[in-house]
Amino acid sequence: VVHGAVVNQAELNEHRNYLADERKIQAYREALAEIVRTGDVVLDLGAGTGLLGLLACQAGAGSVIAVEKDEAIIDVARQVAAASGWSDRISHICAFSSEVVLDADVDVAVCDQIGGLVHDAGVLSHFADVRRRLLAPGGTLIPASFRIFLAPVEFETGREAVDFWRTMPVGFDTSAAHQIAANTEWRYNLPADQIGRLSPGVEVGSFASDDTRPLSENCSFEITETGQLDGFIGWFEAQLSPSVTLTNDPWSSDRFRRWWNFYPTVDPIDVRPGDQVDLGLKMSPAHQLVAWTTTIDRGERGVERFTQSTFLSTPATRITSRGRPVPHTERVEQIRSVIDLIDGSRTPKEIADSLRNAVGSTFRTLPQLESLIANVARLIG
Ligand SMILES: C[S@@+](CC[C@H](N)C(=O)[O-])C[C@H]1O[C@@H](n2cnc3c(N)ncnc32)[C@H](O)[C@@H]1O
Repeated sequence: VVHGAVVNQAELNEHRNYLADERKIQAYREALAEIVRTGDVVLDLGAGTGLLGLLACQAGAGSVIAVEKDEAIIDVARQVAAASGWSDRISHICAFSSEVVLDADVDVAVCDQIGGLVHDAGVLSHFADVRRRLLAPGGTLIPASFRIFLAPVEFETGREAVDFWRTMPVGFDTSAAHQIAANTEWRYNLPADQIGRLSPGVEVGSFASDDTRPLSENCSFEITETGQLDGFIGWFEAQLSPSVTLTNDPWSSDRFRRWWNFYPTVDPIDVRPGDQVDLGLKMSPAHQLVAWTTTIDRGERGVERFTQSTFLSTPATRITSRGRPVPHTERVEQIRSVIDLIDGSRTPKEIADSLRNAVGSTFRTLPQLESLIANVARLIG
């Protein structure tokens, strides 16, 4: 007997969670019922066990194209479709969505590859590609758009995950990992009673579900509780269809089981009611990068300011290749050197000077090197 790939324990539990998430299923079922017209062709992008495609069949789809990059789980999806009596309507393609080529456009595309603050799981780039290549003019994306929200919080679990790395565990200096931890977009899915909200959340931005343009927003919070500012919690509300929304808001009783994100401050800061916290948020969905700048004005107790970016915790190879593996090249090493030199104390000219010996080999000209430095600096925030 020859077996292909088989789903592992982690995948079984992951997909069990999707299938057991009643709030998500109810929302997608209602949205598909509202959008899908009898006979429509529906693309189920990131099909997993095929759940959303099966709901589309129940909503009247004429055919469903289920696309899933994982060959083990799509094999399950095939068998689920057969056992549920929908095999004749659903075709299964094992591929990354950007590799799929279709004979005819689809009327509707549905996807739930949505990160805690949307951008971090890829839906925006995947849908941009679908809109460009696979969706009929006037076709519909589910979800259609998103609103994103942030709130300043005291959050012990998140604080410990960052600060651990400067506690000299076992007597060793692990602070190199602290730099990574402080610049990581953390995923949590804990009950709201484990988070101390220091001020109500605010909407930071909104965008269409296929909008990959960089986003740059500023927002302000007036602290309403005495506590310790550890960072910000970020969540979204998805507009699945004109009358259906879905949120991962940790404080909502109506939330579905998607994780929310935690953006730490470098240090914890004591705050009191009336203190002012300003947050600048930059997102680059095409690169799945986010940068956050926090300014905390505590009146006569002083002003603190941090700039952090997932650029500093992401391997250069992933950024330069947009997710695809690249060979380990000298150019990638040079980009890494540029990142390491952007530490807030050097000017772009000083950085260019210290990499000058790479001009003529990795960088053909000095302006080429200077433009790379400017681009990297812009991405960092
Ligand atoms: C969040 S899960 C949801 C699965 C399913 N839609 C459901 O509702 O239960 C997303 C799935 O999409 C797959 N995936 C993510 N991005 C993809 C892409 N661009 N092309 C194909 N599959 C993708 C992942 O492997 C994963 O199985």
